[in-house]
Amino acid sequence: MSGDPSGRRPAAADFLSFLAAVRPAIDRSLDRLLPPADAPPARLHEAMRYSTFAGGKRIRPALAVLAGETLGLARDAVLPGGGALEMIHTYSLIHDDLPALDDDDLRRGRPTLHRQYGEALAILAGDALLTLGLTTLAAHPEGAAPAARQRAVAMVGEAISSRGMIGGQVDDLEAENNWPEDRDQAAALLEAIHRRKTGNLLTACLRLAGIYAGAGDGEDRLLDELGHRIGLLFQIADDVIDVEGTDEALGKTAGKDAANRKLTYPALYGLDGAKRLLAETRDQALALAARLPRAGGLFPSLIHYLATRDR
Ligand code: IPE
Ligand code: IPE
Ligand code: MG
Ligand code: MG
Ligand code: MG
Repeated sequence: MSGDPSGRRPAAADFLSFLAAVRPAIDRSLDRLLPPADAPPARLHEAMRYSTFAGGKRIRPALAVLAGETLGLARDAVLPGGGALEMIHTYSLIHDDLPALDDDDLRRGRPTLHRQYGEALAILAGDALLTLGLTTLAAHPEGAAPAARQRAVAMVGEAISSRGMIGGQVDDLEAENNWPEDRDQAAALLEAIHRRKTGNLLTACLRLAGIYAGAGDGEDRLLDELGHRIGLLFQIADDVIDVEGTDEALGKTAGKDAANRKLTYPALYGLDGAKRLLAETRDQALALAARLPRAGGLFPSLIHYLATRDR
C-alpha cells in the first residue's frame, strides 16, 4: 500500500509524529513495569523482554494515550494501562506464532520467541505477560479510584476471553482450509473472527481511556463502536500487507496466510475487493471519530495511517 497516489500519506503524518514522540515514554513505562532481566527466573524475564522490546509499533498504548488526550486525560495517567495492553498484545503474538497455531519463525524482525528460547519458555513467557498485564491494570494508575481499576480489569478480561480474543483465535484456526461454502456465511464468520481476535483488544485501548476519564454510557458506546471499526480496519490491512509485503518490511513472514489457507479479506474478496472494504471501513471510522470531543483530535490521522500502513 506504499506509494498511495490518493494523497492519504500526508494525512497520516500527524499520527506518525505523535507515535514517534510518545514511543519513548511507552517504552520507559514498560521497562519499569517488567521485572528486570536478571531477576530470577532470569531466562523467563529475559524472554519476556526479548519479545516486548523487539520493535513492535506500539499502536495499542498509543491508541490508549490518544483516546485519553481526546477525553482530557494526562499522558501519565494512561501509560501504565496502555503498557498493560501492549503486554497482553505481546503475549497474544507469542502464542499466535507457536507451531500449534500459525507456526511462524519471524516476529518484529527477529526469530519468534519459541525459535529463540524454545517452545516451553515461549508458552510460559506468554502466560507471564498476560498475568502481568492484568495485575498492572489492577494496580495502576496510582491514585485512581479502586472501582475504576476494577472496571478496567473486568473490561479487558472480557475483551480477551474465550468469548473475545481467544474465541476469535480459535475460530481463525478452525476456519483454516475449512471455510463455509456459502459466501455470506464465510463473510459473516470472517468479520466475527476479526472483530474478536483483533478488534476486541484495540477497542479495549479506547474504552480503558474512557474508564479512566469517567466516560458515561453514551461515550463508552461510541468508543466501543469506533474501536471495532478501527479493529476491522487494522486487521483488513494486516491481511492485505500479508499478501503485498515482504519479510523485511513486515518483520514477520509474508504470505503466511495463503500458506496456512487462512480465511482472510484478500482470500475471500480478492486483493482489490479487500482494499475497497478497507476504504469503506476507513470512512466509517472517520465518521465515528468526528463525534468524539475535540473532533477526535488525532484520530482521523490515525485512521488514515491504518488505511495506508505497509507494515
Ligand atoms: C499484529 O499486530 C497482530 C494483529 C493483531 C494483526 P501489530 O501489527 O500491531 O504488531 P506489532 O505490535 O507492531 O508487532
Ligand atoms: C493475530 O492475527 C491475532 C492475535 C494475535 C490475537 P494474525 O495471525 O493475523 O497476526 P500476524 O499476521 O501473525 O501478526
Ligand atoms: Mg493468527
Ligand atoms: Mg499469525
Ligand atoms: Mg496476519
